[in-house]
Amino acid sequence: MPECYQEPDDARKSVSAAPAPSPAESRQTAAVSLRGLTQRFRSNSGAYTAVQNIDLDVRPGCFLSLVGPSGCGKSTVLNVVAGLMTPSEGTVEVFGEPLRGVNRRASYMFQQDALLPWKTVLENVLLGLTFQNRDGAEAHELGRVWVRRVGLSGFEHAYPHQLSGGMRRRVAMAQSWIVNPGLVLMDEPFGALDVHTRQRMEGEVLDLWAGSGNTVLFITHDLEEAIALSDEVAVMSAGPASRIVARHHIDLARPRNLLDIKTEPRFGELYRTIWSDLREEVLKSYARDRE
Ligand SMILES: Nc1ncnc2c1ncn2[C@@H]1O[C@H](COP(=O)(O)OP(=O)(O)O)[C@@H](O)[C@H]1O
Ligand SMILES: [Mg+2]
Repeated sequence: MPECYQEPDDARKSVSAAPAPSPAESRQTAAVSLRGLTQRFRSNSGAYTAVQNIDLDVRPGCFLSLVGPSGCGKSTVLNVVAGLMTPSEGTVEVFGEPLRGVNRRASYMFQQDALLPWKTVLENVLLGLTFQNRDGAEAHELGRVWVRRVGLSGFEHAYPHQLSGGMRRRVAMAQSWIVNPGLVLMDEPFGALDVHTRQRMEGEVLDLWAGSGNTVLFITHDLEEAIALSDEVAVMSAGPASRIVARHHIDLARPRNLLDIKTEPRFGELYRTIWSDLREEVLKSYARDRE
């Protein structure tokens, strides 16, 4: 399988806050390795098994999307990888180390805003560094660089309520990428945006990712978004006891022009192939919802 796309970009690396995994580290170990992951929740009728026996390796530096019907367990998998939830069964390794507690090699971008309303754009962007006890002049300068990079120059001192939905997403993006954690977890980050803003933000994620060395685990229920962004798309089955039913390598050239990519014949082929797996699961989930 071809290597993940990595555009050399020294300028970008120079503003990184912490080292992404070294090439040697990258070759040897998966960024995320799940084995036999099962997650159960307590429910009114006993235990509910959300995901069962999931094996997944995410290659370092790759952009992998998990798709599946609503409620199948995508967020559950991401929460486990983030270390916010202890699996009922199975193991999680992050860059070759068993995960214990919160995942310090990952940053997390949720679907909902996690901005602090009483802090300015710059202060919100700096939060991740503040948690690492880095709040000197250098951290401040890095914060300004990131505010600029996500297109918010001039808004450093604005508060979240003064921003549009797209601008708030930009702050969240800077917040999760500034710490250059090695692994970025994104849970339907653009689901609430209008289609044009969404497309711009998707392009900006690809720009941030290219050459950063970071691995991205991206959750979406939107197959077009998954194909347009990813190196690999993994399809989850309808719940309960959801598992991974298919994995597809996305061999579209990079860098990608998201404005036109959906008109490429190869995009259409990939869409039809993956949709035939996903369609079945979506239909099952509809049927279960009606039970
Ligand atoms: N903390 C929880 N307690 C009980 N059930 C949960 C909890 N989190 C998720 N679930 C259930 O697990 C299933 C998978 O949820 P989730 O991972 O959020 O799905 P997705 O992100 O694919 O929409 C759903 O049926 C959901 O109701
Ligand atoms: Mg979810």
